[in-house]
Amino acid sequence: MASLLFSATILLILFNLASALHCKIPTTLDGPFGPVTVPFDQSLRGNAIDVPDSDPRVRRRVKGFEPEQISLALSATYDSVWISWITGESQIGYNINPLDPKMVSSVVRYGKVRRPILPHEARGYSLVYNQLYPFEGLQNYTSGIIHHVRLTGLKPSTIYYYRCGDPSIPAISEIYSFKTMPVSGPRSYPERIGIVGDLGLTYNMTTTISHLIGNKPDLVLLIGDVTYANLYLTNGTSSDCYACSFPHTPIHETYQLRWDYWGRFMQNLVSKVPIMVVEGNHEIEEQVENQKFVAYSSRFAFPSEESESPSTLYYSFKAGGIHFIMIGAYIAYNETADQYKWLERDLANVDRSITPWLVATWHPPWYSSYKAHYREVECMRVAMEELLYSYGVDIIFNGHVHAYERSNRVYNYTLDPCGPVYITVGDGGNREKMAIEHADTPGNCPEPLTTPDPYMGGFCATNFTTGPAAGKFCWDRQPDYSAFRESSFGHGILEVKNDTWALWTWYRNQDSENKAGDQIYIVRQPDICPIRPKVTEGWFSAR
Ligand SMILES: *[C@@H]1O[C@H](CO)[C@@H](O)[C@H](O)[C@H]1NC(C)=O
Ligand SMILES: *[C@@H]1O[C@H](CO)[C@@H](O)[C@H](O)[C@H]1NC(C)=O
Ligand SMILES: *[C@@H]1O[C@H](CO)[C@@H](O)[C@H](O)[C@H]1NC(C)=O
Ligand SMILES: *[C@@H]1O[C@H](CO)[C@@H](O)[C@H](O)[C@H]1NC(C)=O
Ligand SMILES: *[C@@H]1O[C@H](CO)[C@@H](O)[C@H](O)[C@H]1NC(C)=O
Ligand SMILES: *[C@@H]1O[C@H](CO)[C@@H](O)[C@H](O)[C@H]1NC(C)=O
Ligand SMILES: *[C@@H]1O[C@H](CO)[C@@H](O)[C@H](O)[C@H]1NC(C)=O
Ligand SMILES: [Fe+2]
Repeated sequence: MASLLFSATILLILFNLASALHCKIPTTLDGPFGPVTVPFDQSLRGNAIDVPDSDPRVRRRVKGFEPEQISLALSATYDSVWISWITGESQIGYNINPLDPKMVSSVVRYGKVRRPILPHEARGYSLVYNQLYPFEGLQNYTSGIIHHVRLTGLKPSTIYYYRCGDPSIPAISEIYSFKTMPVSGPRSYPERIGIVGDLGLTYNMTTTISHLIGNKPDLVLLIGDVTYANLYLTNGTSSDCYACSFPHTPIHETYQLRWDYWGRFMQNLVSKVPIMVVEGNHEIEEQVENQKFVAYSSRFAFPSEESESPSTLYYSFKAGGIHFIMIGAYIAYNETADQYKWLERDLANVDRSITPWLVATWHPPWYSSYKAHYREVECMRVAMEELLYSYGVDIIFNGHVHAYERSNRVYNYTLDPCGPVYITVGDGGNREKMAIEHADTPGNCPEPLTTPDPYMGGFCATNFTTGPAAGKFCWDRQPDYSAFRESSFGHGILEVKNDTWALWTWYRNQDSENKAGDQIYIVRQPDICPIRPKVTEGWFSAR
């Protein structure tokens, strides 16, 4: 009996020891890590299916000009927040008459207390956008009235109550609330930032979003590819592969009602938690007169003006002691481009004693080892990597590749303790295929000339000249830059703890909500990685 107890105790001690070891969260200081590939779980083969228009979560629930699709976005600093919503019905068909955006005013009433009345009022602007296809048989779309109102003079880390709409109709929303970001400073951070990419509007995406809500984010970043409305024709027929199913359409069609469905589904989260979006390739949505990104640019509010960007396609903002830079991959990015000049100015203005963390995001990844989109945006990497590295960007989030991957610290394809950590979260659950093939599997390495994204043009993806893959276009094993990769759907949470430590956790949809699929402390080392700004000749004059 005693010996039984004794061995049970030993077992318990061993178990505790094992779990303590197991629980120790690795840090980037322990890296670089030998590459890990979690084998694809065949039970996840089931297709991601779009939520249909009959689903109550995507149907129009309001009457008349009552607000719907309510969402929040941050301005550039904690003291200002954007509130957006839509009034009136969108139309799709052969004879549409756009609504007059002046018909309904854009008013937000808000305050720190909800009773007896919301004391403050802010007014904004409204617009309507069209998606026009002047081709035989194609239908045109015109949106409801989109309202954007910017609240200013807000206090940090404070809950505000608000309702939006037009009190004169009257058509006004319920009362919602949100919390402002903490003041910017080295000891001040939002607790949890949700990071998602390539969402679409599938049943799997609804799982991603409910897990994300379960993790109680203070802020959400969406790294491009929002609704996948461009997998549809204007008559509502769709396919998981547009080019395969509809090779002969006169223009790449879209079904803009999917945007309205998405806005309705997301309201539950984004009427309370700000969402910051950067465009992906699915937002291009070309239409008449070569117009692009119209739904994206019209539906969301961006702190572009506040961050001195001339475009909705790139901008920056602060969340506590983090400076976020949202970069546009599908717009000119090289040294001669407006975006590059803006980026140089924005980086030069970052004060790391106030925002120690510098995080950049854009849609297509530079460092991915999956076969899908392998080295597709090398021209962008060649054009921008040195600038970002010279300012010591800490973390880079990407989407586009429909899987999860985390890199070791890397710069110019060489492991470098001062390079950023790259994290791909294109695993939101959209209906296109999940990326499960790796470029390093024999027979998978693409022919270099086929790799550039045709939309972006250029060709920069030459064979490696140094390292274990020198002379070749692909590695013959998981590349050293790739620390962890797994093909599953999920979302990530970034928890910045102080000016040097941040906890990154990736959650898989098939797990319970508090089980981590991948977890690491990302640790900054400003002492060994000083910032040496790359200053381009002549940029002062461009200012
Ligand atoms: C997506 O959802 C379907 C069921 O709706 C399921 O069979 C499949 O495993 C899910 N895919 C992933 C990658 O979670
Ligand atoms: C769509 O809009 C364009 C541009 O206004 C117009 O030329 C075309 O006739 C419209 N198509 C339909 C089907 O209404
Ligand atoms: C939509 O258009 C496509 C291509 O012309 C056609 O094959 C399909 O049957 C149409 N669907 C509907 C619902 O009209
Ligand atoms: C920059 O990009 C433009 C097209 O956007 C291209 O014409 C030009 O050659 C590029 N310049 C460099 C230095 O790569
Ligand atoms: C990156 O590496 C390549 C190949 O080794 C080299 O030619 C290039 O100059 C490097 N770029 C930078 C910015 O260091
Ligand atoms: C580049 O590498 C590929 C194999 O990955 C090889 O087939 C090709 O010949 C190489 N090209 C050059 C120019 O070395
Ligand atoms: C920063 O946070 C990490 C993780 O919580 C902690 O281990 C470390 O001691 C903190 N460092 C400082 C300087 O507060
Ligand atoms: Fe994409």
